[in-house]
Amino acid sequence: MADKVRVGFIGTGGIAGAHLGNLKDFDDVEFVGMCDVAKDRAESRAEEFGGSAYTDFEQMLAKEDLDAIYVCLPPFVHGAPEFAAIEAGIPLFIEKPIDVDIDVALKIRDAAAEKGTLTSVGYNWRYSDAVTEARSRLEDHTVLGALGSWMGGMPGTPWWRVRSQSGGQHVEQTTHVFDVCRYLLQADAVSVHAVAAKGGMTDKPNYDIEDISFVNITFDNGTIANIQSACCLSGWGRVKMEVFGRDLVADVTQGRATFTTGPDQTEEIKSTGNPYQTEDRIFIDAVKSGDGYAIRAPYADAVETQKIMIAATRSMDSGKLVFIQNDQLVIA
Ligand SMILES: NC(=O)c1ccc[n+]([C@@H]2O[C@H](COP(=O)([O-])OP(=O)(O)OC[C@H]3O[C@@H](n4cnc5c(N)ncnc54)[C@H](O)[C@@H]3O)[C@@H](O)[C@H]2O)c1
Repeated sequence: MADKVRVGFIGTGGIAGAHLGNLKDFDDVEFVGMCDVAKDRAESRAEEFGGSAYTDFEQMLAKEDLDAIYVCLPPFVHGAPEFAAIEAGIPLFIEKPIDVDIDVALKIRDAAAEKGTLTSVGYNWRYSDAVTEARSRLEDHTVLGALGSWMGGMPGTPWWRVRSQSGGQHVEQTTHVFDVCRYLLQADAVSVHAVAAKGGMTDKPNYDIEDISFVNITFDNGTIANIQSACCLSGWGRVKMEVFGRDLVADVTQGRATFTTGPDQTEEIKSTGNPYQTEDRIFIDAVKSGDGYAIRAPYADAVETQKIMIAATRSMDSGKLVFIQNDQLVIA
């Protein structure tokens, strides 16, 4: 590898901008390709940050000598870019959620494992001080269950409100909460039951997702969780995770954690730094060293989070409990 890590982007929209903003400050990163089906977006990113603009990722892969690729695509277009990068032996940073369903994600996981591809998924909560501290304190405790929520609004991107493109709120945004739940409980789900309601947002063009949903989860270590999602609040709401153990409540957001051990016995810690920047730094370092030990959400781990959200979708649609049995989502 040259002195600088040669990075290409596939998808140069909103979240790509956040990563580009971080990476441009790393003196060991060089942008060589910006690919987006929207030509003007690829061109303006290339003009601002460097590299050549492409509208076809296969052309970018054929023409550029890439050390790493950032995949910042809407959930429904995952698949072909990842398979092409894996085939070419290029490490991947992939934004969450990794799929709109689960089948493509399982195949990407297997292809990456077979090739030994370095992967990192954008579950940035895992890199915040608050979550890191909570995980460490909960490790020494008997943890019993968790309540999580992402009760918020609807992002403006048009694909977001179409279920076949985003998966709905529980898949798209609340995925951070499902993931941090697994991360703090240190467990994988074995069964999921979900209920949902819709009908309050029919004035939004093409809107066909659930307005609100509640998901009950049982984990393989005996812990339980309830995770709530909503997208009917415009620009306000509540996003957090509470974990309950014996004589302990950890109330965690990306920015702070409070630990309550009794009446009037609460300690708060605040996150410093930018978890997006930390995940980017760790990924670039991993690309340079070839060692992914510091990556907190490799692709195979993100697949376990994805299974919960998609089991919830199956449960909402069927009204039944869904068991997660290895890679199978089995409706009871
Ligand atoms: N980690 C986080 O906190 C966070 C925050 C925001 C968004 N995201 C995730 O990032 C992903 C993208 O979200 P966004 O807000 O950037 O969306 P966006 O719509 O702003 O950007 C997506 C871009 O992908 C392009 N695109 C679509 N299909 C393509 C293809 N086949 N090849 C190349 N480009 C293609 C679109 O033209 C668009 O420019 C979503 O999964 C979202 O959940 C993560």
